[in-house]
Amino acid sequence: MKTLFEVFKDKGYTRRDFLKFATLTTAVLGLPPSLMPKVVKALETKPKPVVIWLEFQDCAGCSESFIRSTSLLPTEVLLEFISLEYHETLMAPSGDYAEESKREAIEKYKGKYILVVEGSVTPNGVYCTVGGKSNYELLKEAAENAAFVVSVGSCASWGGIPKASPNPTGAVPVYEVIKDKTVVNVPGCPPIGDVLVATIVHYLALGKLPPLDGLGRPKTFYGETIHDRCYRRAFYNAGKFAESFDDEKARKGYCLYKLGCKGPITRNACPTIRWNGSLSFPIQSGHPCFGCSEPDFWDRGFIYKPLSVVEEGISFKDIATGVAIGAAAGAGIAWINKKLKGGK
Ligand code: SF4
Ligand code: F3S
Repeated sequence: MKTLFEVFKDKGYTRRDFLKFATLTTAVLGLPPSLMPKVVKALETKPKPVVIWLEFQDCAGCSESFIRSTSLLPTEVLLEFISLEYHETLMAPSGDYAEESKREAIEKYKGKYILVVEGSVTPNGVYCTVGGKSNYELLKEAAENAAFVVSVGSCASWGGIPKASPNPTGAVPVYEVIKDKTVVNVPGCPPIGDVLVATIVHYLALGKLPPLDGLGRPKTFYGETIHDRCYRRAFYNAGKFAESFDDEKARKGYCLYKLGCKGPITRNACPTIRWNGSLSFPIQSGHPCFGCSEPDFWDRGFIYKPLSVVEEGISFKDIATGVAIGAAAGAGIAWINKKLKGGK
């Protein structure tokens, strides 16, 4: 199997392009420059990682995000960056041939492949069956021999929109089903493609996963809130807020807090990595962050309400306290949700 460096060469890219990718990825991962030679050597010599990608209750938006919006790799290299043995949306075979190739890959790469799951799971075995098997069975079967599992997107990480009230299918996140294996959560609706690329490169180059937080998210990308790195923060600090989407203050780029921005309680790398080849992210395009990478973001139901007035009985001080608690283990988010549902 080819190495990533060989893929670069095959696609007509130079060693300089390859080194640029390795340097950028090392920086994005927050690794010290002293590890650069190790990263380069691994990407030059180790075979591409094998990935089996399952889709359950999803919209395929995470796949779209992954193949279209990374800024680290040219698209044609990205499509060969991993050895994608099974992916319902991208692979050529279908039906029995597809299922057979998955079985072969699981057997051939036992203990070595990365299992990526997109979409939520329904342990009741009723919904979302593929080839006569429930998604629950398919997940268990594929996870058993995986090196580790990556839940890509908010549906796989937290249950997402399929799990939103009244949760008609009984959807649950992957980590509630897979308990005996590391499950890395890469939430977002959809997540940033570069985060998945960088997480896989870390594993390939250093032989281990990047450090994870209490909710299984890579700390490098989810260690800070959107608000911590937002370029509109100076306006927030100065008390300058847009009052409506088309007012003069919005045109001047004032803070979107009063238009419902959930940046202060949302952990993601959008302000730093951004989207579409690092072109922009929601706040830069004039829309408040609605917290798509946080658990139960849809059920909170307050997308365009400012955090300070989301519900009687919860103040901005409460939310700030919740965020501080969340910095330790993510418990603050659950605490805020409880408050919003009327808990004490
Ligand atoms: Fe914070 Fe949102 Fe304002 Fe940015 S736009 S400073 S994330 S509240
Ligand atoms: Fe989602 Fe907020 Fe980023 S809505 S895409 S986490 S800016």
